[in-house]
Amino acid sequence: MKLLGLFLCVTLLFLCPFISQADDDSKSDPQQVHVSLAGKDHMRVTFITEDKEVESVVEYGKQPGKYVGKAFGESTNYGYLYYESGEIHHVKIGPLQSNTIYYYRCGGNGPEFSFKTPPSTFPVEFAIVGDLGQTEWTDATLSQIKSQDYDVFLLPGDLAYAGSLSQSLWDSFGSLVEPLASQRPWMVTEGNHEKEFYINFRSYNARWKMPHTESLSDSNLYYSFDVAGVHTVMLGSYTDFDSYSDQYQWLEADLAKVDRETTPWVVVLMHAPWYNTNEAHKSDGEKMRKAMESLLYSARVDVVFAGHVHGYERFKRVYNNKADPCGPIYITIGGGGRSLAPPFKKHHSKLSVYRESSYGHGRLKVIDGKRAHWSWHRNTDSNSSPGDEFWLESLSASSSCWPSSRSKDEL
Ligand SMILES: [Fe+2]
Repeated sequence: MKLLGLFLCVTLLFLCPFISQADDDSKSDPQQVHVSLAGKDHMRVTFITEDKEVESVVEYGKQPGKYVGKAFGESTNYGYLYYESGEIHHVKIGPLQSNTIYYYRCGGNGPEFSFKTPPSTFPVEFAIVGDLGQTEWTDATLSQIKSQDYDVFLLPGDLAYAGSLSQSLWDSFGSLVEPLASQRPWMVTEGNHEKEFYINFRSYNARWKMPHTESLSDSNLYYSFDVAGVHTVMLGSYTDFDSYSDQYQWLEADLAKVDRETTPWVVVLMHAPWYNTNEAHKSDGEKMRKAMESLLYSARVDVVFAGHVHGYERFKRVYNNKADPCGPIYITIGGGGRSLAPPFKKHHSKLSVYRESSYGHGRLKVIDGKRAHWSWHRNTDSNSSPGDEFWLESLSASSSCWPSSRSKDEL
């Protein structure tokens, strides 16, 4: 008996260092990995470690396990009442080749991930949906998105629905989306549920760093980026937008720089829709529409996507509440999974083409400088038979929208 006791003691003494080592390893393992576009030919890798001493480093290469590239970044963390975040690392890597799979490892430890960079020329495909949340319907939306390839994911606000007092929901959301967001760039803008009491956008800004510096914006709440021939602008519904605001001035300058020869398509995303016939959030985007609509119209923006209303609605080309062949098409795509908006009422605007309160996501497949195909996929639809679809023509190809007396640059 004494011998058995001695044996157990020695065995435990021998194992203890390994048990503690295993514990240390899991604390330094990267969690909640996601990637985003970070300026020309670069991507930003974001990951979180419990261990605050882990280096902000990403090793990467075009073959599994062979990391010829290595980049260092920065890290941050925050606390709120009893909650302490892990260390949130952001590492910008590149230059990278387009349309290429890269294998990467975060923090010098843990498993290998891979992502594909977007193409530099058409065609390019965006998957789009807002108001994701973390429900069984979110699971259904994500698995349907994953079942068909895409190049870039666009999320027009309302991600984790954490709320200031449920900060750990940010972590569970990060883990939920990691299988997709570690493989393709996820580009997001903020919704009202990112605001949070007393800590305005602190969690969102710390975790979802977007290329605002790269697009000369002073704020992570609005920015732009180019993919293939598409200039995409992400606006902030919950920061100042009047004509004296930084966002307005930035948007004006950003749109003025767009060259429709290099980027024939201009797409804008925001959270609160400017056009909406659902009872939910009826006029939430109205102030912003009044302040900024003429900027988008003058720039001949092709499509505007929004979330906030948890359903789907597609409008005609519109400007100032009237059908206008030179205005953007407005699409609400907020049925990501959080909950559903009330059914649309029978009487509705003639500007609205299709509307339905169902879960689902959208696909914008830009074929070339002139044509793109839009499809909306309910979670219950098969990929081959979407709930709504149509072909768009870029306004850059519409001569009647560019008065001959004024060049595209002047508008
Ligand atoms: Fe919202």
